[in-house]
Amino acid sequence: MRILSGIQPTGEMHIGNYLGAWKRLVELQTSNECFYMIADLHALTVPQKANELAQATLQKAVELLSIGIDPEHSTLFVQSHVSAHTELAWILNTLTPLGELERMTQFKEKSKKYRANINAGLLDYPVLQAADILLYLPDGVPVGKDQIQHVELTRELAKRFNATYGAIFKEPKALVAKEEEGAKIMSLKDPKKKMSKSDPPDTWIGIFEDEGIIKRKIASATTDSGKDVAYNPAKKPGISNLLTIYSLVAEQPIRAVEKKFQKKGYAPFKKAVAELLISKLRPLRSEKKQLESREVYLREILRQGAKKANAVASRTMEEARRKVGFLQI
Ligand code: TYM
Repeated sequence: MRILSGIQPTGEMHIGNYLGAWKRLVELQTSNECFYMIADLHALTVPQKANELAQATLQKAVELLSIGIDPEHSTLFVQSHVSAHTELAWILNTLTPLGELERMTQFKEKSKKYRANINAGLLDYPVLQAADILLYLPDGVPVGKDQIQHVELTRELAKRFNATYGAIFKEPKALVAKEEEGAKIMSLKDPKKKMSKSDPPDTWIGIFEDEGIIKRKIASATTDSGKDVAYNPAKKPGISNLLTIYSLVAEQPIRAVEKKFQKKGYAPFKKAVAELLISKLRPLRSEKKQLESREVYLREILRQGAKKANAVASRTMEEARRKVGFLQI
């Protein structure tokens, strides 16, 4: 299969991003053709500082390589290095009813959060994401649950373009894990809400965070009434979230984890979750430390990635231009 996925450059990768999508994206590399993108254009929809964006983008490349994204297997590139993304987004805009964008959950949430900056880009965000995807003609788009709506719109826009101008685009499938397999890792403080890097730091765990901080954050994670370590997202969202995290990191089924901690109570279970996370994340941290000093190497990977991504995207874009009816010279 051809696979495409993306991540925004800002904020440190947290265990929601990792367990919900990127751990699988690492596994998918061996037997698929993968395009992985750092979505710096998307990051502009909320206020950014110009002097920090490039650094954050490079840092995201470090993070992706540290978790195991392998440039020998995958094309790792930066969205703004491939201008076809914005070009196709414009064409897709003209096929997108405004009402469909206004209904998007992420738009509604972000426009509440950033009331002082409800810009057109925030509304148009999913159309750019559709362009990101369609240009590469992928079969699958592995993402967390929060992105399903965007992939559905992508399929809709592919259909609409194909019907209006002639068939070019594939209708890719969102590849989403099951709920207990990390589709949505929840906030540590409010386990009914998804873990999000734009929320306060005590609600999420960065995958490269200090061991002491991981311990503290897990210890202070919201749990539920009662004292059984049991998986029941409706009645015990806090403990269920921790069980999901443990199960994914240990690569053991939730039932087995439940059994292991059945009679032990919350505090020893939380301690075990923290210890497991710390030991599994430790090698990623040391990988990151090494890569951080290799800026020339990092830039070269992104240069090669841009070249490969541009080759594919510009071919699709050329075809789209022709179908739309732009003058050829
Ligand atoms: P972003 O940067 O918010 O998140 C990156 C990936 O992490 C997943 N994710 C989660 N999964 C489970 N639980 C959570 N709490 C959680 N939080 C985040 C996201 O679903 C995503 O898979 N718009 C995208 C970036 C993007 C993209 C694309 C993705 C741009 N173009 C094209 C796929 C294809 C975003 O903001 O992801």
